[in-house]
Amino acid sequence: MERTFVMIKPDGVRRKLIGEIIGRIENRNFSIVGMKMLTPSRQLVEEHYAAHRGKDFFEPTVEFVTSGPVIAMIVEAENAITLMRTMMGATNPLEAAPGTIRSDLTVSMRENLIHGSDSPEAAATEIKLWFPELFADK
Ligand code: PPS
Repeated sequence: MERTFVMIKPDGVRRKLIGEIIGRIENRNFSIVGMKMLTPSRQLVEEHYAAHRGKDFFEPTVEFVTSGPVIAMIVEAENAITLMRTMMGATNPLEAAPGTIRSDLTVSMRENLIHGSDSPEAAATEIKLWFPELFADK
């Protein structure tokens, strides 16, 4: 079993697509083993996208992801990281395959509804970053 970090971004919450997106995850028989709604701080989101600091889309992406509530989730399944990325579809809407979340529900490069970790290292880092309470000393 593998765990990945998944976030429904503020556009997904604003557009009332939480149920649609979680439905797709559950219909695939993936387990949601952690979930919360929060409006993330700038500090949290800057850390989340730290690898992209300096790129032209960094600041607008941070502005967007901090613009309202998001749903943060830990999703568990065999090959969860790769399979979630496949379900999400490519970042570029011109490349997102039909049937994917992004292809079916958005045409925006930035307001692209969902994030999923892209590697086991990223999943571990992002789960710790978004769910620090799971790692706090009891
Ligand atoms: S890249 O181009 O390989 O560095 O991008 P990638 O690894 O796919 O992740 C980039 C994240 O920033 C979001 N984003 C954009 N990426 C590229 N171009 C533009 N214009 C852009 N705007 C926002 C993109 O959705 C990735 O975030 P996540 O949350 O992982 O989807």
